[in-house]
Amino acid sequence: MIVCICNNVNVATIESAVVDGAATVDAIRQQTGAAGCCGKCQFKVNRVLQKSLDNLDASSVSSSIAVMSS
Ligand code: FES
Repeated sequence: MIVCICNNVNVATIESAVVDGAATVDAIRQQTGAAGCCGKCQFKVNRVLQKSLDNLDASSVSSSIAVMSS
């Protein structure tokens, strides 16, 4: 699904940027170009960013649990 129409940035591209270390809308903008033109997508970009960060936290917690239980 396209998040930023101006720069043709989709959810997967933003999720990939988060995995690569982007943790703010500014970092997403620098890595992907999203929210770099009209800015109307900024709230959507932030929503995808927060969800991706939550997913990363959840996966790192489950990795830690797996390491602790082995
Ligand atoms: S829709 Fe993303 S900057 Fe315009």
